[in-house]
Amino acid sequence: MNSAPIGIYDSGLGGLTVWREVRRALPGESLLYLGDGKNCPYGSRPREEIARLADQAVAALVARGCKMIVVACNTATAAAIDFLRGKYSSIPIVGMEPAVKPACLATKSRVVGVLATERSLDGELFRRTAARYGSGIEVVTAPGRGFVELVEEDREATPEAEACVRAAVAPMLDRGADQIVLGCTHYPFLLPVLRRVVADRGVGIIDPSPAVARRVVELLDRYGLRAAADHRPAYGFLTFADDAYRSRLEQKALASAL
Ligand code: DGL
Repeated sequence: MNSAPIGIYDSGLGGLTVWREVRRALPGESLLYLGDGKNCPYGSRPREEIARLADQAVAALVARGCKMIVVACNTATAAAIDFLRGKYSSIPIVGMEPAVKPACLATKSRVVGVLATERSLDGELFRRTAARYGSGIEVVTAPGRGFVELVEEDREATPEAEACVRAAVAPMLDRGADQIVLGCTHYPFLLPVLRRVVADRGVGIIDPSPAVARRVVELLDRYGLRAAADHRPAYGFLTFADDAYRSRLEQKALASAL
């Protein structure tokens, strides 16, 4: 039994889409969320810089006694997961998987689309996953240009958001994609717009966060890290930005948990 929190980290607000799933799957666990905020977006920064930022964030969560870390950021996972697991080898670290496998299993048109940040798409993790599961399947990728900024600025329900999403998704739909993978944790906040854009085309949209939450459950059990049944969960929020940003994280998390 272990009542320490599970640490969840992202460049900003995006990882709250994972926080929500972890909370749903593990309502008895305390969660400590760190949304960098100061250095967001990460998506087109050099890999070494992202690794340094991820190191700083994981160090902060470890210093606060987290029993497990979820890197709820595809970009940081792509840039640094092996390095982080090597450096913080005493605690389990869960990363984001580009959900190419379920998309390739579900596609009937044999064309799948992947939306992610620039740095995730040009990373080794994505290349390996696409090669492993995408044989005989056309994988059409596109960076979600402007998506992260829209979410960070609470503009996900605007006409501008719809135009950005339409521009990124149109080439995939033109190629005949019938599955679209959300390869960045900010993107599920754009789901209502995305659903409107693909309306009536029978396109499946795959958000990997429920699968990540299942992985967290599995590892907690494997390492015997669950909190006791009478533990009262606490939800903490940290940032490298200012207190106003910290409050936004908290409000957005609690609103998304309703
Ligand atoms: N939410 C992040 C991801 O999953 C990073 C987005 C960004 O900061 O560019 O990739």
